[in-house]
Amino acid sequence: MPTQKAKNNPGIQSRLDYKIMSLGFKIRDAFKPRSRILEEVGIKKGHKVLDYGCGPGGYVIPVTKSIGDSGVLYALDIHPLAVESVQTLISKKGLANVEVICSDCETGLADESVDVVLLYDILHHLENRDEVLSELHRVLKSEGVLSVTDHHLNEENIISEITSGGLFNLSVKGKMTCSFVK
Ligand SMILES: C[S@@+](CC[C@H](N)C(=O)[O-])C[C@H]1O[C@@H](n2cnc3c(N)ncnc32)[C@H](O)[C@@H]1O
Repeated sequence: MPTQKAKNNPGIQSRLDYKIMSLGFKIRDAFKPRSRILEEVGIKKGHKVLDYGCGPGGYVIPVTKSIGDSGVLYALDIHPLAVESVQTLISKKGLANVEVICSDCETGLADESVDVVLLYDILHHLENRDEVLSELHRVLKSEGVLSVTDHHLNEENIISEITSGGLFNLSVKGKMTCSFVK
């Protein structure tokens, strides 16, 4: 598993907070399947998708169904417990096309190599927002999509946080997500 940076980041949650959050997500995902959110994004077979701040991996199964065997999902998180959860999911489900990355910013991916970046429920967490957005801009293909949702922020705040640095422009306001392009 690639590790892009040593994990002494003060932004990392305690193990207990992380476990409480994961439990909350299990309940959330049971009532509101993540596939409904992904319908807005237009992920296709063969796509390379980066799930930035993947947490316990609620989007992993629906994304792998959409990308098929020819696509790749990169699931990245700063938290070792998130990384462990996704690795467990990979082993249990025998997922051959999911790669886990432990990092707080750098992805280790090539320039313009990703079709879709998911930035879900993490924008409010990001202590290094500008660095992360710059990294996402670097790895996203010129026609790629950055899809964002964050239930801690209203739509206006999401749009201004993503576009204020001048790297991304709003392309679509969906019911649950906003899509941005370079
Ligand atoms: C609220 S969770 C969202 C998880 C997932 N995206 C979802 O919606 O189910 C936010 C995740 O972002 C991770 N995170 C916070 N700051 C990060 C950073 N700088 N780089 C990578 N991951 C980060 C946290 O460890 C946590 O797992």
